[in-house]
Amino acid sequence: MTDVEHDEQQTPLTGDTAPAGDDRRGFMFKFGAALMGLGGLVISAPIVGYILSPAVKDWKKRRSWIDLGGLDQYPIGRTLLATYRNPVHGPTVGIADELPCWVRRIDESTFQVFYINCAHLGCPVHWFEESRLFMCPCHGGVYYENGDRASGPPPRGLFEYDWQVVRGKLYVFAGEMPNLQIPGKLPEDDLTPLTVDGIDYRDGQPVTPDDDTEGARP
Ligand code: FES
Repeated sequence: MTDVEHDEQQTPLTGDTAPAGDDRRGFMFKFGAALMGLGGLVISAPIVGYILSPAVKDWKKRRSWIDLGGLDQYPIGRTLLATYRNPVHGPTVGIADELPCWVRRIDESTFQVFYINCAHLGCPVHWFEESRLFMCPCHGGVYYENGDRASGPPPRGLFEYDWQVVRGKLYVFAGEMPNLQIPGKLPEDDLTPLTVDGIDYRDGQPVTPDDDTEGARP
């Protein structure tokens, strides 16, 4: 046997060893890619949910009609703080379930009900009767009494609740908090009727069988 023939027998080319190395590298690459993909999913899920949430219109699970009490609590021409229990709550939320809102009674039958959260970064706004302005203590946002933005960093006016008056009581459609993606007041067709003593109401009026199909208002 020549020297050349001997070397060829002692050191066979990559036939058995190289594929094992490739397998390991391939496995590690796939494993790393899978981990990165999983991490990306975990990070992006809340963001995707935030972006898509306005498209999910099952408001029945996210908001419901809340009783804010009798009309005699709200004098005409005044803006007063009211509180209610958030219908979207869990066992660990505790006192944070109690949510405040601003109720403005314009006349006998016209209200505006504002979310207390500033439209900038969500700080609670305060109502000042003397100046008839809402002011935000965090960055100086100011709103007129009708909720329109007056000055400061908020990009829009205060968010409002849908409301209706039924049998002498004020009700608001409350639950999920609004933001720049999720509206305060909903499109009319997305509002579910308020049911009192087995009767459905929209805009304070009983819904009769003659009313238009689902979502219509009288
Ligand atoms: S949170 Fe109100 S102005 Fe910034």
